[in-house]
Amino acid sequence: MAQEYKLILKHADEPGYTPDIECYLRHGGYDALKKALAIQPKDLADGKKLSGPEQIRQDVMTSGLRGRGGAGFSCGLKWSFVDRKSGKPIYLICNADESEPGTFKDRQIMHKDPHQLIEGMIISCFANDVKLAYIYIRGEMPEGAKILNRAIKEAREKNFLGKNILGTGYDLEIYVHRGAGAYICGEETGLIESLEGKRPYPRIKPPYFPAVLGLWMCPTIVNNVETLCNVKHIVAMGGAEFAKLGTPNNTGTRIVSLSGHIKRPGYYEIEVGKATIGQLIFDANFGGGLRDGRKLKAVIPGGSSAKVFKAGEKFKIKGKDVDLLDLPYDFDSLIQAGSMSGSSAIIVMDDSTDIVEALANISDFYAHESCGQCTPCREGSLWLSKALHRLTHGEGRAQDADYLVKIADNIPGGRTICAFGEACSWPVQSFVAKFKDEFVAKGAADEERRTKKSKGAGPGLEMKLAASPQH
Ligand SMILES: Cc1cc2nc3c(=O)[nH]c(=O)nc-3n(C[C@H](O)[C@H](O)[C@H](O)COP(=O)(O)O)c2cc1C
Ligand code: SF4
Repeated sequence: MAQEYKLILKHADEPGYTPDIECYLRHGGYDALKKALAIQPKDLADGKKLSGPEQIRQDVMTSGLRGRGGAGFSCGLKWSFVDRKSGKPIYLICNADESEPGTFKDRQIMHKDPHQLIEGMIISCFANDVKLAYIYIRGEMPEGAKILNRAIKEAREKNFLGKNILGTGYDLEIYVHRGAGAYICGEETGLIESLEGKRPYPRIKPPYFPAVLGLWMCPTIVNNVETLCNVKHIVAMGGAEFAKLGTPNNTGTRIVSLSGHIKRPGYYEIEVGKATIGQLIFDANFGGGLRDGRKLKAVIPGGSSAKVFKAGEKFKIKGKDVDLLDLPYDFDSLIQAGSMSGSSAIIVMDDSTDIVEALANISDFYAHESCGQCTPCREGSLWLSKALHRLTHGEGRAQDADYLVKIADNIPGGRTICAFGEACSWPVQSFVAKFKDEFVAKGAADEERRTKKSKGAGPGLEMKLAASPQH
C-alpha cells in the first residue's frame, strides 16, 4: 500500500505544533540556515574556489528539485539562468498566489509552518546573492499574510533576517505583498507587474524572462512556496540524498490536493511517483474511494487547467500499456499520458457528474480571469463560456461540441502572451474529446425540444439562433 511521506508537512499537523518561532526552533528550525551560512569555499581541481552560495546552487541542481507551482521546471536550472553580471540587484519572489482551482497546499504551509518557508527563502536568497525578497500572497488569504508578517518579525528579532545575519555580513529583508485576488497574478510576469503596482498584465517572453528582466527590469527568481521550502531540506540532507526521494527525474515529495467526490478530500504528501492515481483516489490512507458506492467518471490530475482523464483510459508509458488508475503520480508520467501534474491538485468526478456542467463551470472561471491583453484569449475564453452556457441552459445545438473545439484550438499555440491561453483551452479540448457524446446528446436534445416547441408556437428561439452569429 502506498504511504504518505512527510518532509514538508513533517510537523505541520502534529498536535501542539504552532507557527511561532520558538516551536520551530525546538524542532530544529533554522539549523539548515546556520549550516548554509557556514559553508566554506571549496577548492576545485583547476585552482578555482567554489563559494558557499555556489555550492548551494550546485546542490539544488544535484537534488533534481522541480518547481511545484505548475510547470515542473528544474529549480537549479532556473537559478542558473539568473543574470549575475548585470550589476543590478537580484530579487527573489515567492509565488504564494495559489490560484489554480483545486489547489490548497501552499496555504497549509504558510498557515501552519511559516518559518519553514522563511528559512527556505533565506537560504535561497543567500545562494543567489539576493538582498531583497517578496512573498506575493493571494488577496483572499489575509490570515496567511498576518501569520507570515508575524514570522518575519520573529525571524528579524532573532537576526535570521535584517542586517548582518548571524554575524556573517549577509543582509536580507523579506516583505509580504498582498495581491488583490486575480488568477493571472499567479503567472510570474503578471505577478511582477502587480508587485510593481500596475495591472497584472503578463509580459511577453522573450525578452522579459524574469531571470534577466524581472522586477524593476532586474534579474529575478520566482519560485513557488513549496519549491522554496524544499531548499531548506536540500541543504539539511544534501542534494544527492534528497534525489533519492521520489523517482528518477521526479525527485523529492509533493503535496497533493485531493478534492471532489471522494470520501477523504484533503492534502497528502507523497514521494513523487511512489503512489498511483488509483491509490491516491481509492486507498484508505488517501482519498478513501468514491462516496455512496459511486463509480469513477473523470479525473483532472493537476488543477483545473490540466487535461481531464476519463475513467478506464489507457496510456503508453515508456512503451508499456498503463491504466489510468495505475499511472504513477509524477511529472513525467502525466505528461506522457497527455496531461500534467500542474499544481498537483487532483479533482475527482464520479458518475453523477454532468460533464457539460463541469466544463461550463471551469470555462466561466477562465472567461472571468483572462486579463484581456490578447484577443484570442479575451474573446475566445468568453465565447467558450457563452457556448457552454447555452448548452447548460437548454439552448444548445448538436454542433456545439465541434464549435467549442474550433474556438479552443484557435486560442493557444503561440497566439497569446502567456500560458493562460493553454490553460483555458486544454479543459475544453480534452473534455469534448473524451466525452463528446454527452455534449452532442445535450445539444441535440435541446434542438429537438425547441423544434417541437416552435412547431406549436410559430417562429421562436430555433429561428432566432439560426439567424444569430455563432456566439
Ligand atoms: C495563468 C497562470 C497562473 C499561475 N498561477 C500560479 C500560482 O498560483 N502559483 C504558482 O506558484 N505558480 C503559478 N503559475 C506558474 C508561475 O508562472 C511560475 O511558473 C511559478 O511560480 C514558478 O515557480 P516554480 O518554478 O517554483 O514552480 C501560474 C502560471 C500561469 C500561466
Ligand atoms: S493569454 Fe490571456 S491572460 Fe495571458 S496575457 Fe493574454 S489575455 Fe492575458
